[in-house]
Amino acid sequence: MADKTFEAADDTPIDRPMGKTLGTIWTTRLNRRGFLKSSTSTLAVTTASLALPLSLAACSEQIPSFEFEEIEHGVDGNHHVAPDHEADILIRWGDPVMPDAPAFDPENQSAAAQEKQFGYNNDFIGFIPLPFGSELKDSALLCVNHEFTNDDLMHEVFDGVANPLAAYTAEIAAISMAAHGGSVIEIARDAAGKWRVVTESPFNRRITASTTQMEISGPAAGHERMQTGRDPSGRAVIGTMNNCAGGITPWGTYLMAEENIHGYFMGSLDNHPEHTNYTRMGIPGTFYPWGAFDTRFDINKEPNEANRFGWVVEVDPFDPTAKPIKRTALGRFKHEGCETAQCPLGRVVVYSGDDQRFEYLYRFVTDNVISPDNREANFNLLDSGVLSVAIFNEDGTGEWAPLIFGNGPLTPENGFESQADVLIETRRAADLIGATPLDRPEDVQPNVKSGKVYVALTNNSKRAENQTDAVNPRGPNLWGQIVELSPEASNHAAANFTWDMLAVCGDPADATVKANWNDATSENGWFACPDNLAVDPAGRLWAATDQGKNWEKASGTADGIWAIDTQGELRGRGKMFFRVPVGAEMCGPRFSDDGETLFVAVQHPASDGTENFPGFERNSTYSAPATRWPDFKAGMPPRPSVVAINRKSGGPVG
Ligand code: FEO
Ligand code: CA
Ligand code: CA
Ligand code: CA
Repeated sequence: MADKTFEAADDTPIDRPMGKTLGTIWTTRLNRRGFLKSSTSTLAVTTASLALPLSLAACSEQIPSFEFEEIEHGVDGNHHVAPDHEADILIRWGDPVMPDAPAFDPENQSAAAQEKQFGYNNDFIGFIPLPFGSELKDSALLCVNHEFTNDDLMHEVFDGVANPLAAYTAEIAAISMAAHGGSVIEIARDAAGKWRVVTESPFNRRITASTTQMEISGPAAGHERMQTGRDPSGRAVIGTMNNCAGGITPWGTYLMAEENIHGYFMGSLDNHPEHTNYTRMGIPGTFYPWGAFDTRFDINKEPNEANRFGWVVEVDPFDPTAKPIKRTALGRFKHEGCETAQCPLGRVVVYSGDDQRFEYLYRFVTDNVISPDNREANFNLLDSGVLSVAIFNEDGTGEWAPLIFGNGPLTPENGFESQADVLIETRRAADLIGATPLDRPEDVQPNVKSGKVYVALTNNSKRAENQTDAVNPRGPNLWGQIVELSPEASNHAAANFTWDMLAVCGDPADATVKANWNDATSENGWFACPDNLAVDPAGRLWAATDQGKNWEKASGTADGIWAIDTQGELRGRGKMFFRVPVGAEMCGPRFSDDGETLFVAVQHPASDGTENFPGFERNSTYSAPATRWPDFKAGMPPRPSVVAINRKSGGPVG
């Protein structure tokens, strides 16, 4: 299968000229770097500043360490979990979500069936106990994103086909659209304590790219750049796609981040009114030929449709009839996730990374404070507030630069006529403000126990050696790093923060990698390409990896979950906890509120880098996949699945 086809690659390279303001900042940094390089003693200080433990700054709460016995690096057709833990498949692609869903029949899949079944490529997992706000432990809603489809592993028709785009049909497009989006499912613990899907639940719901009616709200709603032939109001849109990570708000709504939306649009940018905007977003990416079957995905037939994607979507999972709402105040870019925190006065903060090489880290702070006693009073909190972008200084300080129309360069002179323009072209606004280009910001995870925020920078093969800086210390960077932010005065809404490296990923035994881990990290405890992060109820940090097709080069092990200490003498120690089957990516780590279950999402088993899988050494196809995980039945394709992990001896996972 061609590299880009059917693959909403997180990392599609887009060459762009660095803006003038940014250029100035770059020059300053590079000069400083050059100076440091010329001075051995100063360089030693710089290098030492990456050494662990980097910061023993006082945290508000002591966080315990990990007790589990780690597993080994490796790759094979199955998953593996740490001893004394068990991993049960909870729900798979094609399993029923709606009570009237037909049984999964991969040979005869239809869009109508897929609309009622669990979608493909589960990514973000949200957990909301039932009833909302209760301390009960046996019933919950899971909110799961379905990021994209690997059509070549879903349909036999692509086997051996040289040009899969040409083999695409209207029904395959419709199935793909129906397999995107999200699922809300009720789950309950059975008599044996295992989580099961409650298929008769009134909460169960599928959200898709093709049928779910959504609203657009916030400053860009109704703007002429949001209007289309089918929606002259600019306030109503059908569907969501490439929902990568997400968040659960304190008021129990489900946030779905729209990430690589460029891949769903086709057409030409010649004389296009959104030429600058779309170029900056990589539109049209043409990963999927949906535009041949639904003209709104053709940028020449519906020039503004792509402006209606790239947002954060808020869903009320307690009301399956409620329209999801795209909250434009949070900006438009390739949102990896959208996890929330609260500042001391009750404002809500949403953190979001823009997952592409040299993109930025964002934060949104609501204007209004949360109403703890009235859930509905919070429903429009995300419509007004201030979106800011992060600037990382070399000295370990940083600041949040607000993206407000009229401020600094965000003026008509630069093509911004209103806040709607600033939000629609968030990336260009951030360029002009001088944000710090990062090594692909993936998940951003606040830790309520410590007040810190963890940022996964996954990798950046395009960073040149002379483009490195303190927060992106390697070029090219195949392994990524985890950065720890400490908001000033432990206030997530503060204008300033300090930052520190928690782990500089990659093999610590290979000096050329320049990794940095706590010395207590074993040969299995290090990893590459951190992506999704989770904090358990005790405040401990866990990272899921996504090495993509480079897994063999980056680490030699399949992706998985690692635990990482963040405090004390073990700060920066990794321990391997879970490993995915070959070709899969690890997504969605999410703990139940009691910490006794860790839900993980195994995405695209048999897909990535199977040509380096010893004994297989070729690309997977529908008929001959590298693994048939998790069913291992002849004729049954590999199926992305959510897995529930419990500790056999009871008590918290890990
Ligand atoms: Fe969808 Fe950034 O991974
Ligand atoms: Ca991801
Ligand atoms: Ca997370
Ligand atoms: Ca990723």
